Amino acid sequence: MVKAVVLGAAGGIGQPLSLLLKSNPAVTELGLYDIVNAPGVAVDLSHIATPAKVQGYLPPDDGLKKVLTGADVVVIPAGIPRKPGMTRDDLFKINAGIVRDLATGIATTAPKAFVLVISNPVNSTVPIVAEVFKKHGVFDPKRIFGVTTLDVVRASTFVSEVLGDLSLTTSVTVPVVGGHSGVTIVPLLSQSSHPLPSGLQQSTVDDLINRIQFGGDEVVKAKDGAGSATLSMAYAGAEFAGKVIRALKGEKGIVAPTYVNLAADKVGGEALKKELGKDLEYFSAPVELGPNGVEKINGLGKITPAETVLVKAALPDLATNIEKGVTFVQVPK
Ligand code: NAD
Ligand code: LMR
Repeated sequence: MVKAVVLGAAGGIGQPLSLLLKSNPAVTELGLYDIVNAPGVAVDLSHIATPAKVQGYLPPDDGLKKVLTGADVVVIPAGIPRKPGMTRDDLFKINAGIVRDLATGIATTAPKAFVLVISNPVNSTVPIVAEVFKKHGVFDPKRIFGVTTLDVVRASTFVSEVLGDLSLTTSVTVPVVGGHSGVTIVPLLSQSSHPLPSGLQQSTVDDLINRIQFGGDEVVKAKDGAGSATLSMAYAGAEFAGKVIRALKGEKGIVAPTYVNLAADKVGGEALKKELGKDLEYFSAPVELGPNGVEKINGLGKITPAETVLVKAALPDLATNIEKGVTFVQVPK
């Protein structure tokens, strides 16, 4: 029995993500919560002939408490998206408070649930969830994840495009590490399951890296004020949630890049910090998942000198973003 909950379920990501979770036969109960329209979305989805029992809640009458009761996996896509010209960090002002309040609900009602954070800026919202859990004495770093899967999905697609064969997209895997914004997104192309041709022009490789790092901007620009990636994000969120659920049910050997607190695996986390040459608290690394969440944090592996430069370039922004999230909860204004 697995109860999955979506907080922000009526939104651009929330609706298709809820659809995909309803389509996952491993989900037996699906709880939807939003400040608008969640009961309507729930009734709509409830007609789909898959096992999950769906229920939707609004804030009145303890809706948040009700939806979170018995939750195993909570996915959070609640919050505002970017418009052209904005950075993800520009969303902090509004989204930090939304995530803090939802995290408070989870910490008090479902402290053992796995929390999958989609709301931006992920580099800061994950530390916010962790700090709220610490305040409530229920922090377990193994159970809180920043969802960076869209970067991995984009890397598979864009690499396949460069290889000239889109049919490869489902088999191409490229680890993407660091964080989830601009230069903190670091694709390790040298570890692609399908290597790039050796004769490829450097400018093509540079463009590919840039496209993976700024893929979000491509969508924001194309939507022209109507928001950011929703459908591809729902796909990515369902992929990652699906992996977490399979691991929860005992499947072994599932590895996925995700932004975690490096204390989640002390040995792996410390080794990674040494590789980075910086005492960062959070980093997106390939993580082995298990029934208790983070089983093992893998290191960067063998990377090229050019990739070392990209990793180093990610560190200052990451440190600033993490500090901003931590301070928001520790020193409330
Ligand atoms: P949206 O505006 O379409 O939907 C957000 C939903 O959150 C709305 O339905 C809104 O009512 C709801 N909401 C707002 N405050 C809430 C609260 N306190 N409790 C519950 N629900 C609340 O936005 P979207 O396009 O779905 O994007 C949502 C977030 O996901 C944004 O912050 C966006 O930047 C982020 N995002 C992250 C990734 C990623 O890779 N991690 C990818 C795409 C988007
Ligand atoms: C993305 O990568 O598409 C998301 O983080 C949304 C955004 O603001 O770009």
